[in-house]
Amino acid sequence: MQGALSGVIVLALWWLGIQQLRLLCSVSAVLQGWLWVAAVGHASVFAALVSLARHRQILLAEAGTSLSHARLGSIIRTTTEAILTIDTAQRIVLFNPMAEHVFRCPADDAIGSPLTRFIPERYRAEHARQVARFGRNSVTDRPMGARRVLFGLRADGEEFPIEASISQTEDNESKLFTVVLRDITERVEAEALLQQSREELRALSANLQHVREIEKGRVARALHDDIGQTLSALKMDVSALDAQLAAHPAYNADIGAQLTRMLSLVDRNIASLRRIAAYQRPVMLDDLGLAAAIDWLVDDFTRRHRIEVSQTVDTGDLIFNADAATAVFRIIEEAFTNIVRHASASTVDLSLHADDSKCTLRVGDNGVGAASLPAPIGKAFGLLGVRERAHALGGRVSIDSRPETGFVLTVVLPRESVREKDARP
Ligand SMILES: Nc1ncnc2c1ncn2[C@@H]1O[C@H](COP(=O)(O)OP(=O)(O)OP(=O)(O)O)[C@@H](O)[C@H]1O
Ligand SMILES: [Mg+2]
Repeated sequence: MQGALSGVIVLALWWLGIQQLRLLCSVSAVLQGWLWVAAVGHASVFAALVSLARHRQILLAEAGTSLSHARLGSIIRTTTEAILTIDTAQRIVLFNPMAEHVFRCPADDAIGSPLTRFIPERYRAEHARQVARFGRNSVTDRPMGARRVLFGLRADGEEFPIEASISQTEDNESKLFTVVLRDITERVEAEALLQQSREELRALSANLQHVREIEKGRVARALHDDIGQTLSALKMDVSALDAQLAAHPAYNADIGAQLTRMLSLVDRNIASLRRIAAYQRPVMLDDLGLAAAIDWLVDDFTRRHRIEVSQTVDTGDLIFNADAATAVFRIIEEAFTNIVRHASASTVDLSLHADDSKCTLRVGDNGVGAASLPAPIGKAFGLLGVRERAHALGGRVSIDSRPETGFVLTVVLPRESVREKDARP
């Protein structure tokens, strides 16, 4: 269009120029004849030059187009993604070598056949609808199957997971859809294996916690019952001996002092035995329940570390099953240990609250808070253990801590998984 316009303008200027020259040379008819010959000659040479330039331009453009076609063809042939192009009737018009490999089907066989042959039957109708819907909107490309795994069907009938995107182009008034896809069988298998090994590790960790808890309970019982009772019996015997010897003529102050020392030694042993047994696993956790065990833990913590604890246990009629009681107890224990080791806190807020659907444990302190950097991997297992215990009961853990604002550990457990099933709901 632009070329034609400039041609017309050049022609008009040429015509005006000739007219001017004719006016200047009006005296001689012979000169006018020569003028016409010269003008036509120049015009012919000029037209030939323009035509040559134009022809060269077309040749260069054609060479460029065929070069970019060759490049595109080579990319389509060598890419590691399978590429299929379909027309509006969803028949295959392009099938690259990777598509041949992925679908185990030669291009000669695939081209002209419907796309549905490479889609598992249960997805065919939905897929056709989606391609048609995509064709009606103005988006030129988008990923396919967002948030779910898509499946392809190989020529030999094997299904496999894919990741795909689709784009649309207009070609001579008709639309073409190009699907670029990748076989993700290996990735899906690796993810499944990873998930399986994660679940196995979780199960192993839960089992280890459980076995360890049983072992600790056994040691605590043995210390408390067997050795504790033996020491109590020893104490009674020493007291009885003291009483008997007091009436004997040979009894003197030294013997009395020695017996008193023996009694106080036995007492100290009984006290430390109880403490060691309780640190293993407080007997009241099994005998008197979670609330009593928390009382003991709080008293012991306040006495030993002189950190004030404000405690609210408001669990209504909820009776904890043994696993949940142990988990909550151990989580509080870890939170307290962390406060002593990391927080430099002066007060702690502990609350255990239950409503119709969940049970919430919150342990917060007014200490320095966690440093922004995470604890070195492989060196901090306390909070990991807290997460595992909560996860085993279907619960979740959250931590709220910024430097200098204290540290708050919150554990939410579903009521259903913590309540004793034999007890009233
Ligand atoms: N109450 C707290 N105040 C400040 N920082 C805390 C508190 N509790 C935990 N942290 C931070 O979180 C990190 C992880 O705690 P975690 O209990 O997992 O490991 P740890 O106490 O360092 O070691 P472990 O418990 O395995 O003996 C701690 O190293 C500490 O930096
Ligand atoms: Mg810890």
